Amino acid sequence: MAEILARGIDRYLESLLPARGEVLAAMEREAKRRDIPVVGPQVGRLLASLAAATGARRVFELGSAIGYSTLWICLGAHPKAKIHYTDRSEAFAEEARVYIDRAGFADRVKFHVTPDAVDALSVVPGQFDLVFNDIDKEGYPRAFRAAVARLRPGGVYVADNCLWSGRVTDGRARDEATLALREHNRLAMADERLVGSILPIRDGVFVGTRIL
Ligand SMILES: C[S@@+](CC[C@H](N)C(=O)[O-])C[C@H]1O[C@@H](n2cnc3c(N)ncnc32)[C@H](O)[C@@H]1O
Repeated sequence: MAEILARGIDRYLESLLPARGEVLAAMEREAKRRDIPVVGPQVGRLLASLAAATGARRVFELGSAIGYSTLWICLGAHPKAKIHYTDRSEAFAEEARVYIDRAGFADRVKFHVTPDAVDALSVVPGQFDLVFNDIDKEGYPRAFRAAVARLRPGGVYVADNCLWSGRVTDGRARDEATLALREHNRLAMADERLVGSILPIRDGVFVGTRIL
């Protein structure tokens, strides 16, 4: 992934990160070894912080892989939180179950193995304090529409990879993922129900709070 921030700034931010716990550290090593695109500790800490700030009891995650972002959310969420994990890969879900169990959060995570995380969201009733979107980028506009409709007032929508290694700014980039991300970012920034911004950490993260 191309860096969004100047290399020195990125290194500085990395240098400030405290060591992660044993399970997160093991997941980071595994993600690096197998090239699994996890959010990493900067965005992980942001997710934990937002889960804590919203006192999150109900969280829906679209695209969870080995459960790295899920675990960060668990760390910030309310002790009685229910966090909905989704992924189309049964193998990833199996790995995630083991990590989440090892970290002591097995009772807080509900696993959905599904070909379409947005469909899974539509069948879980109720409102959410936090929805995190990290599925295939082609699906972002649809996921955004589904997610925002399900946030409680004061609830937060987060989406990873919004700057897509800078490709969203390259007028020649016309591939489906880049077009979908541009559409997603336009929708997210223009939606009057939300107030938010794209933070240029890692690959760009949209964070928006539901105000209407
Ligand atoms: C970027 S990875 C998620 C990483 C995870 N959020 C983390 O940071 O630890 C995206 C995951 O979403 C899954 N995925 C992509 N599109 C999906 C969809 N429409 N429905 C369900 N799973 C999807 C993929 O199998 C992949 O494991």
